[in-house]
Amino acid sequence: NSIERGAPGKPVIVQKKLNGYVGFANLPNQWHRKSIRKGFSLNIMVVGESGLGKSTLIETLFNMSLYGPKTPRQPGHELAKTIEIESVTADIEENGVRLHLTVVDTPGFGDFVNNTDSWKTIIDNIDARFDAYLDAENKPNRVVINDDRIHACIYFIQPTGHSLSALDITVLKQLHRKVNIIPVIAKSDMLTDEELLAFKSRILADIAHQGIEIFQPPKYDNDDEETQLENEEIFAKSPFAVVGSSNLVQAKDGRMIRGRSYPWGVIEVDNEEHCDFVKLRQLLIRTHLEELRERTANQLYEQYRTNKLLELGMVQDTSVFMSEGEALSNSARLEQEISLHKMKLAKMESEMKSVFQQKVAEKEQKLKRSEAELFARHHEMKQQLEAQRLELEERKARLEHDRPVEEKKTKKFSLR
Ligand code: GTP
Repeated sequence: NSIERGAPGKPVIVQKKLNGYVGFANLPNQWHRKSIRKGFSLNIMVVGESGLGKSTLIETLFNMSLYGPKTPRQPGHELAKTIEIESVTADIEENGVRLHLTVVDTPGFGDFVNNTDSWKTIIDNIDARFDAYLDAENKPNRVVINDDRIHACIYFIQPTGHSLSALDITVLKQLHRKVNIIPVIAKSDMLTDEELLAFKSRILADIAHQGIEIFQPPKYDNDDEETQLENEEIFAKSPFAVVGSSNLVQAKDGRMIRGRSYPWGVIEVDNEEHCDFVKLRQLLIRTHLEELRERTANQLYEQYRTNKLLELGMVQDTSVFMSEGEALSNSARLEQEISLHKMKLAKMESEMKSVFQQKVAEKEQKLKRSEAELFARHHEMKQQLEAQRLELEERKARLEHDRPVEEKKTKKFSLR
């Protein structure tokens, strides 16, 4: 048995060895059962230029058809097309374990002649998901919060064999503090093994040089050797050279496999010697799904939340982290709170004032406009009345001019 005394002002931690069975060794089993009951959820976003095989890869990953048949594009239509975000959700089950999968596709990304702002919609979508979560957290009833935050972003790199494009760098720099980025080399069957190796190292060099953070497995002290080795093997393949296809083709040895058939041979999707698809699937689903979710919740979302609340003028109360000696006295803290409250009130007042002034200005403008309209209508009516008056005057004059003749005629008639 060992007893550890805490520093002054800190709680005392007592470490003791058990003399018999208590039962908490069963806690992981409780957790396991609970997880199975609740199911898991994963929200993936795919980002990449149009036609890089995003939808195909997602369907290959989950071995199911998620998208309907694609409509062919009209010639010349591409330039006018705007970027739209498309979200597909599916509930899948494997050996009694349920996974609620959401795939957010960004079709047409990078399609324009000028792509300067084409990534903004993607960032807005990620932010909107964070905002929705923050709103839900702040509601009085927050028993069930739907986690729509993006847990992983598969970033598709064109198989050019050169290095990252300027657009890739811009987009990745905007994304990396908001989502877990998993870079993949799309349609890697277009490059030879040597080209792929060189391309991968250039991409990694670019990523390091630009200070872009991609998803890395966290290292834990209690990870066993096997887990460490598995992680190393998976991440040694990053950026993952992928090939997508849900079609079954016949391999050389007669087996029916998922792959792509070429005049010179067959590329097998699930063959680790042909591409890194298996490793990518392993990372996303088998080994790091929970890490992706955890990093999203504990780091990426927390950072977003802090920035957002600071932007709204909220201040962290650090007194709770101070030891007794350092803590502010009650009255000082109270004063601080009052001054903060006053500042908030002043801010609200000035905001209300400016809104009020704006409303008054708008009303004045409206009144001025209707006054001008009234005046114009009055003027127009006056002109119309004047014209009518003149016409009547004219008719009266004409009648008066005609009257003697009429009278004469009447006289003649009466004489007869
Ligand atoms: P958008 O939704 O228009 O952005 O396209 P996408 O990125 O979802 O691409 P999609 O999956 O529709 O694939 C476009 C074409 O590329 C299809 O003809 C696919 O068969 C083909 N394709 C998909 N994956 C691969 C691959 O790994 N290698 C090769 N060579 N072709 C592929």
